[in-house]
Amino acid sequence: MTSTKTELLTRDRAHLIHPLHDRNLQEKGHVWISGDGAVLTDADGREYIDGLAGLWNVVAGHGRLELARAASGQMEQLGYCSGYSGSSNPPAIRLAQRISDLTYPSISRFFFTSGGGESTESCVKTARYYWKLLGYPHKTKVISRQWGYHGVTLAAMSATGITAYWPMFEPRVPGFLHIPSPYPYRYEAPSGRRPRRGRGR
Ligand SMILES: Cc1ncc(COP(=O)(O)O)c(C=O)c1O
Repeated sequence: MTSTKTELLTRDRAHLIHPLHDRNLQEKGHVWISGDGAVLTDADGREYIDGLAGLWNVVAGHGRLELARAASGQMEQLGYCSGYSGSSNPPAIRLAQRISDLTYPSISRFFFTSGGGESTESCVKTARYYWKLLGYPHKTKVISRQWGYHGVTLAAMSATGITAYWPMFEPRVPGFLHIPSPYPYRYEAPSGRRPRRGRGR
């Protein structure tokens, strides 16, 4: 381990809390310094393929100058404005219209969020609101899959079907049901029942 990495990890331990923090993992962790296309370089100077593309949010690759320039230009022109209280802005309008042009005609209006967990929360809230408007306010159950991952905010964690993510933060939000996932390798049969084997095995 280089001294730069050791020093960075010492400061990390002193000041940073990570999502789903695991002290042992963080102690021997990677410190990522740069990215170019699909390749990441860590503080030891080693290169790795970023097979997850960040968390599926860097699909266009690292180091894309056109994206950096677009973000920089927008920050110079207008750093932030909210979408509340009758406000809007041209880039959000352009993006919503562009996505509308790419999707089916029945999908034409968009709600932007800052990430996956917030998207899950927003979906759950939109579904609740929809049923309330139709006169069914009691329809609040959400069915998700065992092993499904939906984020780490409270309702998203409750939707998440990876049980190891629950105990530190329970009680979970009520109304989230989990059904088996179509994943034979990790299938967990309801207790007392064995998974049925497919033909020809
Ligand atoms: C399907 C799905 N939902 C939700 C999330 C949570 O996203 P975020 O970490 O941006 O809150 C992820 C992140 O990997 C995801 O893959």
